[in-house]
Amino acid sequence: MATTKPVNLWTSSDHVRDYLERAELISHRHEGEAALLEFIPPATRRFLDLGTGDGRLLSLVRGKHADTKAVAIDFSPTMLEAARKRFAAEPSVTVISHNLDEPLPALEKFDAVISSFAIHHLLHERKRTLYAEIYSLLKPGGVFCNLDHVASPSPQLHKEFLERIGFTVETEDPSNKLLDVETQLGWLREIGFVDVDCHWKWRELALLVGRTRIRDQETGQFA
Ligand SMILES: C[S@@+](CC[C@H](N)C(=O)[O-])C[C@H]1O[C@@H](n2cnc3c(N)ncnc32)[C@H](O)[C@@H]1O
Repeated sequence: MATTKPVNLWTSSDHVRDYLERAELISHRHEGEAALLEFIPPATRRFLDLGTGDGRLLSLVRGKHADTKAVAIDFSPTMLEAARKRFAAEPSVTVISHNLDEPLPALEKFDAVISSFAIHHLLHERKRTLYAEIYSLLKPGGVFCNLDHVASPSPQLHKEFLERIGFTVETEDPSNKLLDVETQLGWLREIGFVDVDCHWKWRELALLVGRTRIRDQETGQFA
């Protein structure tokens, strides 16, 4: 049986340009980004940024954690070009072209996996398997911070959110595949993440964070 490809407009350069023109102006995003920064452990040495776009979030976190290495993943040629331009003078950042619909490539482990406004473009079952892949890619004591669009509890609240960010139900991005916070927090816990919570939320924008357990230096056991 043929499978239908999920709608995802992010490989279109017009779609990307439209986003980049308004990215800075998205209501309350700075609050979400500031909250995310609080959860990055001071000892972080390696970041992975999923759906990096033009590298906006990675740039912000590296602004606070200068002596770090990072891998940034996206699949949009226009975004990849913008990210490569942004990090051209930073050899400690590797930008990789990869479709997140597919399993993550083999990579060394990370202290922090971050993402902003990207994972909601994946089908729900892929979100779940991606979360498990992220868990396997994190070192003990690592953190996953996902600032993302989530589903509203009612069509009315969805409509109101869209109006606040200048869209309507007719003009919203058909690439969006919104899922409620509770389901995603439940998945993170089932996978093995600890200290899982939604630490910041404004309407359909939410920061979901989970940590991997810390290994005791002496016993080798997980705390
Ligand atoms: C709304 S933009 C956010 C970009 C950036 N993280 C930011 O906060 O500005 C969504 C990003 O997710 C990327 N993306 C969407 N679906 C993807 C997929 N299947 N594989 C890789 N990247 C994807 C898009 O190319 C785009 O760069």
